[in-house]
Amino acid sequence: MNPKIAIIARVGAHKAFEAKGLKPGKTEVFSTPYGDSRPIHFFRHNGLEFALLSRHGEAGYDLSAPFLNPKANLYALKSLGIDKILAWVAPGSLREEMAPGDLVVPHDVLDEGRGGPQTFFTGVGWGFIRHNPLFCPEMRAGLLEALQNVPFKVHPQGVYVATTGPRLETAAEIKKFRLLGGDLVGQTLVPEVFLARELELCYVGLTYVVNYAEGLLHRPYQPGVLFEGLATPEEVAQVAAVETAFPEIILKALPALAAAPRACPCPRLLERYRLRGDIGEDWRTWVR
Ligand code: HPA
Repeated sequence: MNPKIAIIARVGAHKAFEAKGLKPGKTEVFSTPYGDSRPIHFFRHNGLEFALLSRHGEAGYDLSAPFLNPKANLYALKSLGIDKILAWVAPGSLREEMAPGDLVVPHDVLDEGRGGPQTFFTGVGWGFIRHNPLFCPEMRAGLLEALQNVPFKVHPQGVYVATTGPRLETAAEIKKFRLLGGDLVGQTLVPEVFLARELELCYVGLTYVVNYAEGLLHRPYQPGVLFEGLATPEEVAQVAAVETAFPEIILKALPALAAAPRACPCPRLLERYRLRGDIGEDWRTWVR
């Protein structure tokens, strides 16, 4: 199989597709200079091949966001010939109008994380890459069109505030992020999107809200329940509905995403360094 598009999802995503009757052609773990990738599942649906991996675990939530290995996953996907990535992400909401269970296609990111440098280009002179538009404009357009008839509210824009985690934010931090213009808060889209750009991959995020962020609404602390009471049982049910629809949403969007011609800036994000002779045609020689 020779997929050109990959879905990076959350937990056990291959099982959701299997439950819809799709069977992976194969599943493989790739060893990379950054360690092993997550298992990559190869599917075919209506003549379209796609790769699928789950960031946090195959069966359960085994690894929290700061301990993921996006470099290994992206290196493995690029090695396979993947050139487009759809990232399925579950952030909190900073806005009352973006409710749990809603879909949001973010258009920008505020990196409020506390990590060190997150780059493939350690100790070299390239990597000063423009980050606007941050997400692949062709994939965003295709995705928004495909989402027109889904039975969920779709927000076509949103600023995703990236935090390091694994802890959730304080109420004061959320207040600050709202003042800064953030709409969502989460821990996974960064550094993944930045690293994908360093490999000249087309990358788009599709997020679904899982909770209102801390302090936005009155939510008494409840030990022992999901998010300690940050989400109500009704909201948890709304989120479960969109999670159940995940494979249908993805299969609906895939044809439009696969058809995007890549006339976007993404395949030439490092063109300046190529022209300058800093980097050669083989991307494996760019990365450190
Ligand atoms: N904050 C940070 N990350 C998250 C949240 C949140 O409220 N919800 C889901 N991921």
